Amino acid sequence: MRNAAFGALFALSLTTIVAAEEIGASSAKFWSAPQVGALPYDAHGRLVRRGRDLITATYSHIGPDMPDPAQRFAGNNLACGNCHLDAGVKKFGLPLFGLAEDFPAYSARAGAEITLQGRINSCMTRSMNGRPLPVSSEPMRAIVAYIQFLSQGVRKGEKLSGLGAGTMPELDRAADPARGRDIYQSRCIGCHNIDGVGVQNSLPGLGAGYAFPPLWGSDSFNDGAGMARLITAANFIHSNMPDGVDYLHPRLAVDEAWDVAALMISKPRPLRAGLEKDYPDLLKKPIDAAYGPYADGFSEEQHKYGPYGPIRAKLKEIEKEKGEVKNPNSGR
Ligand code: HEC
Ligand code: HEC
Repeated sequence: MRNAAFGALFALSLTTIVAAEEIGASSAKFWSAPQVGALPYDAHGRLVRRGRDLITATYSHIGPDMPDPAQRFAGNNLACGNCHLDAGVKKFGLPLFGLAEDFPAYSARAGAEITLQGRINSCMTRSMNGRPLPVSSEPMRAIVAYIQFLSQGVRKGEKLSGLGAGTMPELDRAADPARGRDIYQSRCIGCHNIDGVGVQNSLPGLGAGYAFPPLWGSDSFNDGAGMARLITAANFIHSNMPDGVDYLHPRLAVDEAWDVAALMISKPRPLRAGLEKDYPDLLKKPIDAAYGPYADGFSEEQHKYGPYGPIRAKLKEIEKEKGEVKNPNSGR
């Protein structure tokens, strides 16, 4: 009994805070995600709470089914929190903590500096397949206030552990959607449903969000989204799926995660126009961007599914010749 309670507490703290042992329990630098519930109900407290609601129930506030067309910004019924897990505080669940001070930041995808608002809008137009939120709009101010709140006490340039989705070893073969189909049937279909369509929330009147979100099809993220890239998707799935798993207790083998991610990105989804203009500096294009052009002469197919070893080697060669910067594998 005591052990079970301790286990549950331990598991919770592992996913929601920076584990003490990683930074030394005695360190004064111990940082845990701030609690929204600790805020007073003043103007700032209300704005931060509203921001969290926008993350966890996006569809009910700026979704495609809003009665007022002016409030329809997202093009699908996902919630930001379907990917930014536990309202953005789960380690390796694409957390939104500790990063506000990093912006404005150079974006390889845009080929220019972008603000935090610009980064949010890139998820609005890709992951949410919608249109950008005006910078001074109330929902944008609320989301920014929430993300800033989650970065409280974190200095510019300080990197908390647990950001992103993880970096598991890569395969020396292409990831295989056909193998992924069997894994999907046995490990995912019970929640994400036949043909990846997901399962809608059951309570009427609270917006058309999902109990289990779609993984492909018309109400999913579009082909320009970070989750449409194999390395991001495979690591996210390995660190977080089946739902309830955390990065310390994965239930999928590494190759299973690669193959089921390959199945997901092989499926049809909304298309974003103009993707060929992303990453104007091709040497900074993430290796798993599934759309050309590329600097390295490898096919879209190999960029989409790997293996990545040969592409990395080639890029290194080109960089050496140019005496230039490294290819960062992140699409901020
Ligand atoms: C389908 C999954 C998905 C959804 C839905 C989604 N995002 Fe994201 N988001 C991502 C991924 C993947 C990344 C990281 C991409 C990368 O850098 O590799 C990301 C990155 C971000 C970042 C930058 C994080 C960093 O580490 O710099 C912010 C801020 C963000 N998203 C906000 C939002 C907001 C706000 C929403 C809802 C309006 C949203 N996202 C919806 C997948 C998603
Ligand atoms: C027990 C139910 C369950 C199982 C099994 C499960 N998932 Fe999920 N999955 C979820 C839920 C719930 C979310 C949204 C998380 C949230 O909102 O907190 C999610 C989110 C996701 C997302 C990001 C959101 C999106 O719509 O793209 C991906 C990708 C994903 N799951 C892939 C998988 C894959 C692949 C498998 C099989 C290996 C799997 N999941 C198994 C419940 C499940």
